[in-house]
Amino acid sequence: MAESSEQRTQKYLDLGHSEAENHAKTQLELYEKHVKNTSAVTNVISSFFKTNLLGFAWHYLKSRFGPRHAYQAYPKNDDSGVYTLQSSIPSREEISIALLSDWASDTAESDSVGHLVARYAPDYTIHMGDVYFVGAPKEVEDNFTAPHASWYYGASGSLALSGNHEMYSNGNAFFQHLLPAMYVQQGEVRKTQQAGFFCLENEHWRIIGIDTGYTSVGRPFVEIISPPDCHLKKEQINWLRDIVRIGNPEDKRGIVILSHHPYISAFREEYEKPGKQIQELLGDSEREIIWFWGHDHRLVVYNKAKNGKGPMAYGRCLGHGGLPVEIKMPDGEADEQKILFYDRRVRKILKRHQLGYNGFVKLCIKGENLTAEYRDLEDTCVLEEQWLVDKSNGHLEWSINNIIPEIKMPRTDMPGIENSSGK
Ligand SMILES: [Fe+2]
Repeated sequence: MAESSEQRTQKYLDLGHSEAENHAKTQLELYEKHVKNTSAVTNVISSFFKTNLLGFAWHYLKSRFGPRHAYQAYPKNDDSGVYTLQSSIPSREEISIALLSDWASDTAESDSVGHLVARYAPDYTIHMGDVYFVGAPKEVEDNFTAPHASWYYGASGSLALSGNHEMYSNGNAFFQHLLPAMYVQQGEVRKTQQAGFFCLENEHWRIIGIDTGYTSVGRPFVEIISPPDCHLKKEQINWLRDIVRIGNPEDKRGIVILSHHPYISAFREEYEKPGKQIQELLGDSEREIIWFWGHDHRLVVYNKAKNGKGPMAYGRCLGHGGLPVEIKMPDGEADEQKILFYDRRVRKILKRHQLGYNGFVKLCIKGENLTAEYRDLEDTCVLEEQWLVDKSNGHLEWSINNIIPEIKMPRTDMPGIENSSGK
C-alpha cells in the first residue's frame, strides 16, 4: 500500500538528533520499500534482517568510525566560489533568491513548498541544509535529482549548504551527488558548485553561504571531551579572509550570512563559534549583518542581537521548509525575550501534536534594497520585511512592509507595524 502523506509526516514527529536514530529511520525506509515490492512472508522476514538490522548496523558503524568525506574548498578547478548575482531575465533589475532549509524530507509538505517556489520562478534557489534522514544517495535522489523530485532549480543558480544530517553519512552523498547537481550561471557559463560554501554578490549586497555542517557532528569518544561546535574550518576562514575579503574596511556592501546552524536560538542549541570567527574577520565591531539559518523546524524572527563575541545580527530562523513544524513556546522567559515574531499558527493536529505551517523565504534584491517575503505553503505572505543599505557606512535600515497579526509575540508593540491580511 502506498504511504500516505500523514504516515510520512508521522515518521518525522519527535525526530531526535542522534545519528543512530536517523540511520534507523533510513533503514526503515529501505525496508518498507522492499516490503512494498514483495509478497512472500519469508522473504519479508529475511529481508528485514538483511536490509534493516544489518544495514543499520553497517551504516551506523561506518558513519561513527569511518572517515568523513574529504573537505572541499576554493580555489578549486579555477573557481573562487565568489559569483556575480545575475537576473535570469537580462532586462530585469530585480534579483530573486528562494531560501529553503530543512526542506529535503520528501513529504507532501516539502512537495507543496517546492511547487510554490516553482510558481515564483526565483533566479536562485538555495537549500540551507539537512537532507533527511542521513543525507544518503537515495535521499538526495528523491528530493533533488530524480524525475519526481520537487526541488526547483533557479535559472541563475541552485546551491546547497550542508546540515548535520548530511554528515550523519560522512557527507559522502552531499559532496558526490548533491554538489554535482548544483551550479551558478556566470554569463553564459554554468559552474558546478565545488564546495559547501559560496558568495553571491553585486555592487550593493553580498550573500555568503557558510558551512557549519561539516563540523557539527562529533567523533566517538572525542565528542565527550570536545562537543562539536560548528566552527568554520581553516580553509573556509582563509577563503573568507583572502578571497571574499569580508574584512575589507572599504567594502560597505550589505552582508547576508546563510548557515544551517543557528547563531541564536530560543528553543535549542545555539552556536557562538561561527559568529565569533566571522566577527574576528570583520574587525569592525559596529558592523550589523543579516543572518538566516535553519536547523530548528520553525519560522522565528529574532530581535537584533549579538551572541557572545559574534556580530550584531538580524537573525531569522527558517527551518520550516519541509519537516513537521511542532508548535511550542520557549521554556523560559529569557528565551522568549529573544523573539520578535514567531509563526505559531496551528495548521493541523496529528497524534496530539500541533503542527504549524511550512514555507520558504523569497529574497528580492533591487539596488540598495533587500526585501524578504516569508511565504507559507498556502502562499500566505506571513511577513515582508526590508533592509536598505547605506553604502557610505554599511548601515542597515530595517522596516516592515506587511505582517499577519498571529505571528506577533504577546509583548510585540512596535510603532509602524500594522496588521494585514497577508495575501
Ligand atoms: Fe539540522
